[in-house]
Formats: sequence, C-alpha cells, structure tokens
Amino acid sequence: MHKLYVAMVGLPARGKSTLAKRIRDGLMAEGIQAKLFNNGDMRRALMGAESTSPDFYNPSNAAGREAREMICRRNMDLARGWLADGGEVAILDATNVSRGRRRMIESTLTDHPVLFVECVNEDQLLLKACIRRKTTLPEYAAYSEEEALQSFMKRISYYEAIYEPLEEEKFWLCVDSTANRILAERPCEGSPFYPAIREIVVSAWVHCLYLVRHGQTEFNVRGRIGGDPPLTAKGRAQAQALAQHMRHKEIDWVFTSTRLRSHETATPLLAERPGAHIMAFKEFNEIWAGDCEGMLYSEIRERMPQVTAGRNANKFSYAYPNGESYALLGERVQRGLRRALFLAGDTPLVIVGHQAINRVLLSLFLRQRSEDVPYIYIPQNQYYHISLTPRRKVFERVPYQDDSR
Ligand code: F6P
Repeated sequence: MHKLYVAMVGLPARGKSTLAKRIRDGLMAEGIQAKLFNNGDMRRALMGAESTSPDFYNPSNAAGREAREMICRRNMDLARGWLADGGEVAILDATNVSRGRRRMIESTLTDHPVLFVECVNEDQLLLKACIRRKTTLPEYAAYSEEEALQSFMKRISYYEAIYEPLEEEKFWLCVDSTANRILAERPCEGSPFYPAIREIVVSAWVHCLYLVRHGQTEFNVRGRIGGDPPLTAKGRAQAQALAQHMRHKEIDWVFTSTRLRSHETATPLLAERPGAHIMAFKEFNEIWAGDCEGMLYSEIRERMPQVTAGRNANKFSYAYPNGESYALLGERVQRGLRRALFLAGDTPLVIVGHQAINRVLLSLFLRQRSEDVPYIYIPQNQYYHISLTPRRKVFERVPYQDDSR
C-alpha cells in the first residue's frame, strides 16, 4: 500500500503550519488518513521557556542543536509508527532548512517516500506582520513586545544562516505561500497522494471571510464619489448593527482601507474583541476617480460628459482621467486579498471595503464576466460571507440591519 511522508521546509513565519494543516485537512476531505507531527509543539511541551531564547537556535550551540535533532527524531519515530498502524500521509511540520537535516530525514525514513514541501514568502509587509503576530503567542508572554520581536528576529537570523534551498532532495515542491502558487517541483511520481497535495497547495482556501461595505456617508447620500468622508448617523447605526449582529462570531482579523469611513465601520466590531488584529491596507482604498474625485455624478455628467459616456460604453475598462478603472483595480485588490488571507491563515477575517473594491473582491470568487463586475450589488446593510475549503463551499449575502425605510 502506498504511504507518504510530507516534510515541511521553510524559514520561520513563512506559512508552513497553515499549509501543513491545509494539506492534512484537504487529504482528510478526500478520505485519506493524514496526521501532523509538529516539532514546535513538541519543543514547547518538552523544553518550555528555555527553548524560546534565541540561543537555543544558534547553530554553534551544541546543546540546542542536539535538542532540536532529538525532537525531530522523536517525531519521525511517531510518524513512522503511525503510518505502520494504518495512517497514510504523515506530515512533519518543522523548518528543516538545512540539507544536513533533510539528508538525515531521507536516510531515516526509508520505508516510504519523503516529499519536501517548502514555503517561500518574500513579501516584506507580510513577513513583518507575521513576525509581530508570532510575538503575541503565549510562548512570549514573559517578554515585552520589543523584547519578543528582537528575540524572534534573532531566531530567524540563525535559521537564515543555515538555510539551503531544495535541490538534491529526491521529491520536492516549492510553494509561494502568499499566492498559492507552485514555484518549482521535482514530482513524487507514482505516489497517489501527490496530485491531491498539488491541488491543495494551489487552491484558493478561504476559511471564513466576511466582506462588508462601509456604512453610509454624506457623499453616498448626495451621490458624490471618492473623498474621505465620515459616516452619517445612519452609517454609524449600520456599523453598530453590524457589530451587534456579529457579536457571537469569532473574528480574529479586521482589514480596512486607509479611509475614515472604513475605519469607522470597523470600530464597533473591534470594541469587544481586544485580541483581534486590525490592519489598514491602501490596496482596499476605493477606486481612484482622478480628476473626478469628490464630484457629484450629476456634475460629472454636466461638466465632463465624455467620462459618463466612456463609463456607459465600457464601465469595466474605462479609467477616470488621471484615475483608475475596474480593470486596473484587479491587481492591487488581489494583492490586498492575498495578504489578508495569508495573515488570517485559517482564522475568520473581515474586510471592510468600498463599493468598487468589494465588487472586484467578489469577482475573484465568482468568476464573473468582467463586464458585469461594475454592476454587482453591494448594499450597506448586508455583508457577504464566503467560505471555500475542501469540506465547505459557502457563498451567501447576509442582511444585518433592516434599514430599508
Ligand atoms: O458612490 C460611492 C462609491 O464608493 C464611490 O466613491 C465610487 O467612485 C463608486 O462608489 C464606485 O461605484 P461606480 O463604479 O458604480 O461609480
């Protein structure tokens, strides 16, 4: 019977554990027995605080090196035993960044093939945010935020010093973990699990996304576009109603644009969630109307009829003079979504966007014809709930306040 070891590879904070869990969940959804063996969990259980110190990871610290190797060997033993007992895919979740370590794994686990899966992430913004998040974990409870940051950075630098890319290993897959993209591979031919794993790593994986539009602003009431207006009283009531509606829902991350209306809509949501993370991305700022920023639609019609005509003829491709089109939004909105999904991992997230932004975000899930995208309905008293995993496909529009009157 075919069995497989999957050994994760990558520097800290590159998305290994999220991908390892997805591989497990994706395989299990196909009826394949898969299990995680995490070196970090074993290290924390066996060694506690001692192993939080960066010295533990210093390659010239023999005691630290031996302890980490012992943990790796124990997990390999557990994984081998589990496969012998009926398991099918054992996933070793660890950094495994040096060739020496990977040779040791290949020469120890000879009963079944070993597939190395490396996570690469070169997005500096994501790395910084990820590292900051790591420093809030219980492991760093005794540290100040700055101490935790310094300590974790030092740990990463020790791993960087011994990092060697995949190359000579027998089977491997190198993945851009922020874009669900395979960068290079040496396929594990003959393994029935390989195609399934490949499919899992390239799939859009959205655990639980709430896509909200900001509440009403004075500009919305008057038909004025762009700008940075605050919410009206009705907009603030919508934001409160949203928070009330979501009070029992788990939300770990809230992403906004850098605009006031998006922040004001998110504020009540965050009020009762001190542990939630918030980040403002300019990628989620509303379509830039260039020379028409701050104008009324009626003013544009009168003073710049060519703009109205251009939009009427092809609203998707038409760019405002010195501004953006829906087509142009695609790239930045996708970058924002990729970053948001990477940071949230498998925890629920909210994006508080704008009319055009939310249309483009939705179109990334809907495979909509491009000419229809600028007309997708984006109400201010309903949100979209999206969940796309191998086990769950949810796409629904949920009202949170009846303010039709
Ligand atoms: O009217 C609100 C708004 O968010 C404007 O700021 C933006 O220009 C517009 O919606 C986008 O919608 P449309 O492309 O339909 O004009």
